[in-house]
Amino acid sequence: MAHIYSEEVMKLFTDPKNMGEIENPSGLGKVGNPVCGDVMWIYIKVNNETDVIQDIKVKTFGCVAAIATSSKTTELAKNKTIKEAYQITKKQVADDLGGLPKQKMHCSNLAVDALQRAIVDYLKKNGRSIEELEG
Ligand code: FES
Repeated sequence: MAHIYSEEVMKLFTDPKNMGEIENPSGLGKVGNPVCGDVMWIYIKVNNETDVIQDIKVKTFGCVAAIATSSKTTELAKNKTIKEAYQITKKQVADDLGGLPKQKMHCSNLAVDALQRAIVDYLKKNGRSIEELEG
């Protein structure tokens, strides 16, 4: 079979970072892809005073690309403020992975959505609004 994935994708697929769960997370985001059935959960632990994401874990049931993108997203978000993490883009994740095969770009690059949902969940739990992250 032709090797369609970059070296970085294969590296993270075989040795993914930040896999697992966090007990009593500050925020939890879930995203599923109804087309292929892949699904992932992102858990974040946030410092209430600084808004920094101190810990982040991801649980992914998915293909090679879904595992690599979720791993990369957690690496990019760790130790960032929620505002910085909210601005991480799918393009940034794909670029940092050395690119993704075209057909996988939209299908598998879901972790950024899960991360944003986890951040929104954290804000809601604290009676805060998503508007403070925009602009
Ligand atoms: Fe993996 Fe679609 S086949 S996300």
